[in-house]
Amino acid sequence: MLKTNQNYKLLNTSYLFPEIKRKVALFSSEFPNITLFNLGEGDTTQPLASSVSKSMIKKIEDMSSDKAYMGYSDPLGLATLKSQIASNYNNSYAKNFDLSEIFISDGAKTDLFNIQAIFQSGMKVALQNPSYPAYIDSFVINGNANDLVYLVGNAENKFVPSLPTQRVDLMYLCFPNNPTGASASYVQLKQFVDYALKKRTLIIYDSVYSWFIEDPRYPRSIYEIPGADECAIEIQSLSKIASFPSLRLGWTIIPQKLLAGSFKRREINNIWKRRQQTAFNGASIVSQAGAISALSDKGLKECDKNIKYYLKNTKLIKNCCEKIGLECFGGTNSPYVWCKTPNKMTSWEFFDFLLKEANTICAPGVGFGSLGEGFFRLSGFAKNKEVLNATQHITKAFLLLK
Ligand code: MLT
Repeated sequence: MLKTNQNYKLLNTSYLFPEIKRKVALFSSEFPNITLFNLGEGDTTQPLASSVSKSMIKKIEDMSSDKAYMGYSDPLGLATLKSQIASNYNNSYAKNFDLSEIFISDGAKTDLFNIQAIFQSGMKVALQNPSYPAYIDSFVINGNANDLVYLVGNAENKFVPSLPTQRVDLMYLCFPNNPTGASASYVQLKQFVDYALKKRTLIIYDSVYSWFIEDPRYPRSIYEIPGADECAIEIQSLSKIASFPSLRLGWTIIPQKLLAGSFKRREINNIWKRRQQTAFNGASIVSQAGAISALSDKGLKECDKNIKYYLKNTKLIKNCCEKIGLECFGGTNSPYVWCKTPNKMTSWEFFDFLLKEANTICAPGVGFGSLGEGFFRLSGFAKNKEVLNATQHITKAFLLLK
C-alpha cells in the first residue's frame, strides 16, 4: 500500500514565502490599483553582470556546435569552477582545499536539505530560533525533529545564541543570520567550533550572506576558525550576490579531515560523493559557466557592486525604522533588518498593517520560528526606488499608530 511519508504531515500547512505570496495576491485582487513595495522575500533585483551573461550565452552556443557539444558533465562540478573556488578560499582565508572537498550544487537550499540524507534519522539536532524556515522543515521531513534543541536568539544576546547545554549530533548555524542579520564574532564562532570539536558534533554552516560582511571583526567563512575543517561543512551560493536565484548555483565544502560523530576522516566526504553521483547529475553547465565568470576578478567586482547596492538599501531601511522608534537589529554586514513590532502586535498582525497602511510587504518574524513572534524582517534586496517609496510609506503609516 502506497503511503505518504508521515513526516510531511508534521509540517506547517504552508511554507512561509508562498504564504506571504498568497496573502499579497489576495490583497492585490481586492485592491488592484495599489502598487506594492516588496521588502519581504530576500529576492535579488539587480540584473546579471554582462560578463556573466556573455559566458553563459557562449556556453549555450558551444552546446549547439557539433565540436563543443557536451553531454553529461561531472555530477560533482567542473574542475575549473572548483579550482576557482579553491583559489578564492586560498586568497581570502589562506585555506587550502583539495578539489575533492568542493561539491558544486544547484544552490544552497538543496544541499542544506539533502545533506541530512547521508545520516541515520533520529539525530539530535540544534538550530537557531529564529532561523531560515527551510532548516526546520528539513529536520521534520528527514525524521530529525523529535529531539530538537533550539539555540535561543533574542534581543539580550543580539541573536547570537549560547552553546547548547547538551550534546547534539548536528548543528545548523547561519551567520550573518537570516532573518535577524546578526553576525558572530571570531570569539563567538570559535566557541561553537570548540564545542563541536569537543563533542564531535557536525556543524552545517550556512554562509550565503557572508559576502555582506564589511566589518573585519566578523569571519566570513567558518574555516577562518582553527579546527573548523574537522567539524564543519560550509554551504555557499551565488544567488544573493551574482543574481543567480533562478539560475541556481552554489557549492558545499566537505573537508576530508571531518571527524564528527563516529565517522572517520574522509568518510563523510566519500558518502556525500557517493550520494551525489547517484542522486544528482550536476548543476547546469550553463550556470557553471556563468559562475566561473562571476567568481573571476572582474566578476567579483561586479558582485561587489551588487553587495554595496543592497547594503545601501538596507541602511536606508534601518535608518527609517530607527527614526520611527522601532527596536532594530541587523542591517549592517547583512541585507536584512530585523525589528520588534510596535504596540505588541503579532508578526502577522503587523504584516497585515504594513501591507494595508504602507503598501509594503515584510516577512513576519514568526515565520522563522516561535521566537520570531513579535518581530518582522525587511529585506534590502529590492530596487533602490522601491526602498525609498517603501520607507516614505512606512513613516507615514506609523503616524496612525501614535
Ligand atoms: C529569504 O527571504 O529568506 C530568502 O530569499 C530565502 C531563500 O534564500 O530561499
